[in-house]
Amino acid sequence: MWHRHSCLCTLGTKSVSENDMNHSMTEPVSLDDFEQLARERLPHVASEYLVGGAADEITLRWNCESFDRIRLRPRVLEDVANIDTSVTLFGRTMPHPILLAPVAYQRLFHADGEVETARGAGAAEAIYVVSTATTTAIEEIATAATSPLWLQLYLQKDRGATRELIARAEAVGVQALCFTVDTPVVGTRNRQQRAEFKLPSELATPHLDATNRERLTVTSNEREPVTWRDVAMVQSIAHVPVLLKGILTGDDAARAIDHGVAGIVVSNHGARNLDTVPATIDALPEVATSVGGRVPILLDGGIRRGTDVVKSIALGASAVLIGRPYVFGLALGGADGVAEVVAILRQELETAMALLGRRSLSALDKSVLW
Ligand code: FNR
Ligand code: LAC
Repeated sequence: MWHRHSCLCTLGTKSVSENDMNHSMTEPVSLDDFEQLARERLPHVASEYLVGGAADEITLRWNCESFDRIRLRPRVLEDVANIDTSVTLFGRTMPHPILLAPVAYQRLFHADGEVETARGAGAAEAIYVVSTATTTAIEEIATAATSPLWLQLYLQKDRGATRELIARAEAVGVQALCFTVDTPVVGTRNRQQRAEFKLPSELATPHLDATNRERLTVTSNEREPVTWRDVAMVQSIAHVPVLLKGILTGDDAARAIDHGVAGIVVSNHGARNLDTVPATIDALPEVATSVGGRVPILLDGGIRRGTDVVKSIALGASAVLIGRPYVFGLALGGADGVAEVVAILRQELETAMALLGRRSLSALDKSVLW
């Protein structure tokens, strides 16, 4: 059995809160505890940017509620002495199926932002998908990383800049590209607007051009016309697998496969773009049917419990990503906080598998659902 390695009491000191343990909650034990603590301690504007969804935040609620509605079907008296959560993605075996989703502007949440996340990912043995909208250059992030990095792509108007970014990422060993295809325009972000969120001018975004910096930060009319033709363009440059992130339907999944993509990320962008699209776990079965096992499917949106990971895998995902939860960890404890969030989720996954009587991820099929 694998054990948690630390508690918040031992977390680093470079957090937004500087060791203020004088609090009703002594140690966060769940991802929701991390959220509650981080929301109390982060500056209001950063917190609202992080937690917000689009418009009325209906999909934001659904992302979690839909997991809650799915019931589990345990099997007793199975030998669960050894639980194996390992998964192989594009030839690389990882000890567990939890990745860190691309989240923009991480110096909003910790002075060392993406560098701390990379360190935390290393400690947690998790793949970190670095956003194009970083506040740290990819080379600096790579220097801090001891686990595999993937890069998330937002295309720039100047496609030459995209080529250069891919080349730089590959030069530092990035192992896959997640091309985000669900954001031709940023959604109606009312919570961000009410908080008057603006990216502080002193925060550099080394991989975003000025247009994209504006476009991705505020609800604006600026559009980036990205089409299926760009998928072929990215694939023609890349030497690593290219996944499409932000697929919700069987039709688009089929089209993605026709374009020869290496993988699909079922995502609604953490419910930040189009409100009232389904929860990702509700979209997954249709995508899985369409894909028919031809490429791996990953899922993100609302994963807060080990049982959510189980349900995602049972319905056809090979692995999952978490977004907001690890950033709560980053805000509270830098790299240690990131690692602790992944550790909690990983422990919960192992516990759930033992209680379900399933020893490996391949045993997590529809038979674990009631
Ligand atoms: C995101 N997400 C995101 N996705 C992406 O492709 N590029 C990006 O730069 C960002 N930036 C970003 C910022 C913030 C503050 C959030 C919360 C999310 C979406 C992210 O990768 C992921 O899809 C969701 O966060 C997953 O949902 P949960 O785990 O946050 O519920
Ligand atoms: C966001 C963009 C940057 O969700 O992806 O805030």
